[in-house]
Amino acid sequence: MKLLIDDARIDEIEKICELFPVAGVTTNPTILSRIGGNPFDTLKAIRELIGEEADLHVQAVSRRAQDIVDEANHIVKILGVNTFVKIPALPEGFKAMKTLLETSEILVTATAVYTPMQAFIAGQCGAAYVAPYVNRIDNMGFDGIRVTREIKEIFSANAMETEIIAASFKNSQQVLELSRCGVGAVTLAPEIFYAIVNNSAINSAVENFIADFESFAGKDKTMLDFQ
Ligand code: G3P
Repeated sequence: MKLLIDDARIDEIEKICELFPVAGVTTNPTILSRIGGNPFDTLKAIRELIGEEADLHVQAVSRRAQDIVDEANHIVKILGVNTFVKIPALPEGFKAMKTLLETSEILVTATAVYTPMQAFIAGQCGAAYVAPYVNRIDNMGFDGIRVTREIKEIFSANAMETEIIAASFKNSQQVLELSRCGVGAVTLAPEIFYAIVNNSAINSAVENFIADFESFAGKDKTMLDFQ
């Protein structure tokens, strides 16, 4: 299961990339609106930071299929290989996905996925990834983890190669559940990365080891002070 960062703030992305095993970055129009300005200034800076091998997911915002296709080509022309174009899993989006599958090598992430059948249709249209919104589904009174598991079952039962990139998390438990069923990727806001290891028992265990070492070696001493 790949871990991606769902954010567009360069400083936050840089910090998380230094600390965690990160495979890429996802953005959406709301995330880009928090930065403002020319979206490609932000996206080019992210691409430069994460490198051309990392995945970068960028959403098209047009409503009509042909406009989505044009946007997809434009986005990939500017941001290069390993850029996934996020396309909403709606009828005009499905049409755009089919056109892109027939006419290009552009990688598509079907986004705004709330139901298993949306994911199935997007997969049949050639999407590389589908992005179920786990927490938003929970907030509608359904079970985002269960929906994501059902999508995985449907893909497997129909021998589909489409992967899942689960999005919209509000706690680390949701991430744990999906890692147990082995989805292809999850994309997490920076605070969720920290929440995964934010546990007083872990911190206390590590602090106790350091205190025990300093008790015989001296304050601020480490293994570097000995041969
Ligand atoms: O891109 C979709 C996903 O990031 C939504 O997350 O936290 O706005 O529900 P959230």
